[in-house]
Amino acid sequence: MKTSNTQKVVWITGASSGIGLSLAKRYLDNDWQVLASARTQGALTSLMRVYDKLEFIPFDVADASQVDEVRSTIMTFTDHLDCAVLNAGTCEYLDMSAAEPDWKMMERVMSVNFFGLVNCVEVCLPLLKQADKPHLVGVSSQAVQAAFPQAQAYGASKAAIRYFLDSLRIDLTPFNIDVTCLLPGFVDTPLTKKNTFPMPFLMSAEDAAKRMFDALDARPDEYAFPKRLSAVLWFGRHFPKMWRSMLAPKHQDKS
Ligand SMILES: NC(=O)c1ccc[n+]([C@@H]2O[C@H](COP(=O)([O-])OP(=O)(O)OC[C@H]3O[C@@H](n4cnc5c(N)ncnc54)[C@H](OP(=O)(O)O)[C@@H]3O)[C@@H](O)[C@H]2O)c1
Repeated sequence: MKTSNTQKVVWITGASSGIGLSLAKRYLDNDWQVLASARTQGALTSLMRVYDKLEFIPFDVADASQVDEVRSTIMTFTDHLDCAVLNAGTCEYLDMSAAEPDWKMMERVMSVNFFGLVNCVEVCLPLLKQADKPHLVGVSSQAVQAAFPQAQAYGASKAAIRYFLDSLRIDLTPFNIDVTCLLPGFVDTPLTKKNTFPMPFLMSAEDAAKRMFDALDARPDEYAFPKRLSAVLWFGRHFPKMWRSMLAPKHQDKS
């Protein structure tokens, strides 16, 4: 059965773990209908036993051929989307010390993080246009605020998201669609578990989701958090030589 016109509906991508999963819980606890997407249902399975207003819609965001089918599936549940949180993402690092760095990885990461988000916009835009006060939200990263080593693919994909959303915001103004770009700092999720470097001001996924949910209420163009990390990255941006000397690997002797 389709949801009523007055029920608030959010579509969250990358909702099977980490930030997306915590965000789904937060929306559910605030009485939203949640349409949750990822490639695998994962931890959403147990959540669906607890919440009536949660549906899983499988979607590999990197596969553009799924766009029409996913939109049709969403439309079996609702005629409108009040909000779309485009959060699905991945992270891989480029190892420049390898004899043959894995350059193909650039394409893999861009196809999920950037082109995946573009595919999601294609899915949800017609449904956002049916809502009274629609809100489109994309998840970038504080990594865009200063360069990090080995993050060529991840950082570039997140910077591309930021620009894409900034530009989209202008063109969606006539449609009254608000566009927010979220820039989380380090969050303790499966994505960051593999990180071997220090992650200052690391937050839990629940904490990150609470900050995001609360901030989205005011529909800012951009929300970067935590502010302490933004301050550190401001330093990195404005003092690039010092930043590089702090982060660069040791010089490799050719002999
Ligand atoms: N954790 C951090 O410190 C941090 C900081 C800044 C920004 N972010 C961003 O926050 C978002 C969520 O990350 P997270 O930390 O919560 O990571 P996570 O726990 O690994 O969650 C990633 C989510 O994205 C989904 N996903 C991955 N590839 C997908 C694909 N091709 N199609 C559809 N869904 C896909 C995963 O589900 P399936 O594998 O089932 O598809 C999963 O639900 C990402 O965009 C990430 O870049 C994270």
